[in-house]
Amino acid sequence: MSPEDKTQEFYANIIDSVGDGVIVIDLEGRVTLMNPAAEEITAKSRRQAQGQPFSSVFRGEDILLEMVEKSAATGMTISDHENIVIRKAKQVTPVSATSFPLLLGTGETTGAILVLRDLTNIRELEEAVRHADRLSTLGTLAAGLAHEIKNPLGGIKGAAQLLDLELPPESELRDNIRIMVKEVERVNRIVEELLALASPRRLQLSKVNLHKVLGDIVILQKRAAEGKKISFQQQFDPSIPPILGDEGLLTQLFLNLIKNSVEAVEEGGLIRVASRVISDYSMTQKGERRSRMVAIEVWDDGSGIPKDQLEQLFTPFFTTKVKGTGLGLAICQKIVSEHRGMIKVESDPGKGTTFTVMVPLIQ
Ligand SMILES: Nc1ncnc2c1ncn2[C@@H]1O[C@H](COP(=O)(O)OP(=O)(O)OP(=O)(O)O)[C@@H](O)[C@H]1O
Ligand SMILES: [Mg+2]
Repeated sequence: MSPEDKTQEFYANIIDSVGDGVIVIDLEGRVTLMNPAAEEITAKSRRQAQGQPFSSVFRGEDILLEMVEKSAATGMTISDHENIVIRKAKQVTPVSATSFPLLLGTGETTGAILVLRDLTNIRELEEAVRHADRLSTLGTLAAGLAHEIKNPLGGIKGAAQLLDLELPPESELRDNIRIMVKEVERVNRIVEELLALASPRRLQLSKVNLHKVLGDIVILQKRAAEGKKISFQQQFDPSIPPILGDEGLLTQLFLNLIKNSVEAVEEGGLIRVASRVISDYSMTQKGERRSRMVAIEVWDDGSGIPKDQLEQLFTPFFTTKVKGTGLGLAICQKIVSEHRGMIKVESDPGKGTTFTVMVPLIQ
């Protein structure tokens, strides 16, 4: 390799290693260079883009075109952090874009460099912060409320039990008392769950075998839902090592998800629990990047969730069930974030739902 080739390779490696998308345009508006991050963000291949007019490769991305044309023509640097989304096949990616003039040593402009940064994770993080904010307000409220409610509840239960002692054994009124006590206990449980959801706590960390946790839940749910004839499938990646986590909380997390699936499917429905390793996931929480994650998917072919409800699912007390508290998924979200992970949901109304939990392999 000649020294020039070596220098070229050196610079090419630098551009290719940049995590932001870099696209270079010449004075004719043709794409002369595109790095792998740009390919990923825009879903266009560098082979197809090279030498083609920017305006035709990125048809419809008017703001970007305007930016590069302006930089190339005027030598100005232009930034836009707020307004840009790039449309791919099915999704939109929010990006921040900056276009720089490409300058020669003489100061002459020979094109423009467009730098794109994927903001998906930042947007997710912003949403998580807003959510945490809502939860902490709720926490203060819940702690006060729980205290105020639990004492009178104890009073009602005690009085009902006393009444029970007074009544003759054959009295039909005893059925009513039984219902009173049961419902009081239900309110008590909701208050306690709310309190647990709202207050900070310490994780009891140990090495947790996720597949065993999931397998045990499936066995229990199979038994509990026997009347409904549900089929359960398990697809576990055997290479996944134990993760450091709170076994009790992780059990509660997956139990809530699998129970929701059991409740969503019809008679004869199908539920699949799968695990896999995602090796290249960029985490934005606490400044971590590219740590290895485990993804656990709980899929069902049940009723699905209407699009307009997806946003509210994790809000405490959101429920569509007669006997639901709507705390299940709020608790799931808390447990996932305590394990520095993420939870997401995809659903096709009428076809089914997938909840995906991602947690880092190394805690
Ligand atoms: N797998 C699923 N399929 C369809 N809808 C779901 C599924 N999981 C959750 N949902 C919807 O999300 C709502 C909220 O779920 P969440 O677990 O938080 O509360 P819940 O199940 O209603 O009550 P709880 O969990 O306290 O018994 C549910 O009422 C339901 O409408
Ligand atoms: Mg639930």
